[in-house]
Amino acid sequence: MNESMNTQQVRQRYDEMAGNWRLLGIVDSLVLINRLRKKHIGNASGAVLDVACGTGENFPHLRNASSITAIDLSAEMVDEARRRKRQLGVAVDLLVGDAQSLPFGDDTFDTVVSALSTCTIPDYVTAFHEMTRVVRPGGQILLLEHGRSSVGWIARRQDRHIDRVYARSACRNNRDVGAELAEAGLDPVSHVATHLGAINQITIRG
Ligand SMILES: C[S@@+](CC[C@H](N)C(=O)[O-])C[C@H]1O[C@@H](n2cnc3c(N)ncnc32)[C@H](O)[C@@H]1O
Repeated sequence: MNESMNTQQVRQRYDEMAGNWRLLGIVDSLVLINRLRKKHIGNASGAVLDVACGTGENFPHLRNASSITAIDLSAEMVDEARRRKRQLGVAVDLLVGDAQSLPFGDDTFDTVVSALSTCTIPDYVTAFHEMTRVVRPGGQILLLEHGRSSVGWIARRQDRHIDRVYARSACRNNRDVGAELAEAGLDPVSHVATHLGAINQITIRG
């Protein structure tokens, strides 16, 4: 892969894309990601933090939350998320901020969720550590992450196109999510891969 973007470059990329990002909802439905959001992210309960919330695609699935806080690097994405929360009529405390340095105290949340996000975060190890810091002991971190397919020809295709994909969306869609979690010293209690091994539902205990 070509040189990685820094945090400012990722922010700029998502600021530029924010207006079109809600189209993701349509793609979500077509490839059944929204079902996985419902099934996996829908397990969130109590005080919930949505890290790198984007336009708020997780919000409809946080029905068991007693409170929702959501943070994203891109002010434009947060503006879209604000519109989404109004449409849905849900209460969400929305902030612009960096997952690599979360502005919350230790053990603040019962559940941390994050979807399709850590592939875009330059220092993903620090972001994983930040998620574990702000979740209370015994709480849970629910991740829905895409990565390198377990099917050989699809993985090779992902590798071939990674420079173009990364330049367009700051997304390392061929990364090995399990290896990145291990690099951060995290050992999930559950890791289920679907969509030809390219979508990962991960649960980590706080
Ligand atoms: C592919 S989008 C996914 C958005 C949303 N989670 C979803 O499921 O639709 C990735 C998001 O990560 C955000 N992001 C990237 N780096 C970040 C960082 N360091 N801190 C917080 N958010 C970040 C981007 O601004 C973008 O909204």
